[in-house]
Amino acid sequence: MSDSAFPLLAPYIKSATTKSLWLADENFLDANLPPNDAVICITNRIDLHEHLQKQGWKAFFSDYDLSIIEDNSLERVIYRVSKEKLVAHHLINEAYRCLKVGGELILAGGKNEGIKTYFTKAKALFGMGENSKNAKDTWLAKLIKTNQHSDDALDDKDYHQLRTGCIDDRFEYQSKPGIFGWDKVDKGSAYLIEHLDSFLMTLPEPPKNALDLGCGYGYLSLNLTHLDIPVTATDNNAAAIIACERNFARYPINAKVIAANCAQGIKDKFDLIVCNPPFHAGFSIDGDLTDRFLKAAHDHLNEQGIACFVTNMHIPLERKALKYFHQAECIMSNGNFKLIRLTHKM
Ligand SMILES: C[S@@+](CC[C@H](N)C(=O)[O-])C[C@H]1O[C@@H](n2cnc3c(N)ncnc32)[C@H](O)[C@@H]1O
Repeated sequence: MSDSAFPLLAPYIKSATTKSLWLADENFLDANLPPNDAVICITNRIDLHEHLQKQGWKAFFSDYDLSIIEDNSLERVIYRVSKEKLVAHHLINEAYRCLKVGGELILAGGKNEGIKTYFTKAKALFGMGENSKNAKDTWLAKLIKTNQHSDDALDDKDYHQLRTGCIDDRFEYQSKPGIFGWDKVDKGSAYLIEHLDSFLMTLPEPPKNALDLGCGYGYLSLNLTHLDIPVTATDNNAAAIIACERNFARYPINAKVIAANCAQGIKDKFDLIVCNPPFHAGFSIDGDLTDRFLKAAHDHLNEQGIACFVTNMHIPLERKALKYFHQAECIMSNGNFKLIRLTHKM
């Protein structure tokens, strides 16, 4: 898997000699860059954070909270645009705030990712800029901050603010931009919850605990409340962790949230695992991610437990799962989604 936009930024990260900031998005994938002392890195993905720290980078994990950086203090900000428009708007605004007059924002991304629109909006904010087309319809844009104040901030819909993302007949889900499907209930996840009992009746006894693997804002966890068991929810995305914590505080659920890369570091094992796995890292389909989620489910499932996965029909999850599980059975499908039950050898 390769990203054609990120390599356009690598020379700017390597060549930075004074106070610079690299905003690392999930699109960074597994690229390796030698650490540069002039650059600090902020990412909202805990796996990237761990990866960068291991390589020797000065890296911070947060929901792109740039308040640790003073106004007008940076020479260069480097950013490969994110999948979510409001994340990109928030970060372009913050780059403007943090840069000195004369400082530069270097952006890269694909035409189909909105890079040209970001460039136009950012140029109005910054005052000066140029962009150039590269291979595979990817663009590199350089913006120069020419003024101390501007009325042309991009609309980020108050990025950090949690809000009611959606409501169903059981819960009002607090959420925010930057989280998977932040303003809706995912149809696959709803299908899993609708048929949760079909999974549970195959257990020898009621589950004593549960793991929500890749929890997002916590939809699956909240819909386990009636089971009255401790739930552990985990995700790699800082925004998801924040929203989940808020949702768990608002309802009577015995649940905790842990930021982790595919549940790494969670020592407990569980009778019930619920999961709507991701298939994309940023703009790319990531086949390895499915494998890593299956392995995480395997490693965290009790001997007699069940892992309940929901996926799109076209994902060959059952075949992949047999690498890790004794049994992988599609228990139900509706033409769009299928529910898969995974078990160890009994
Ligand atoms: C398809 S979404 C499901 C979200 C939620 N369970 C729901 O039903 O709305 C998959 C989730 O996996 C998370 N994810 C992606 N890569 C991950 C990783 N390496 N470790 C943990 N979670 C990850 C994403 O942030 C996202 O929240």
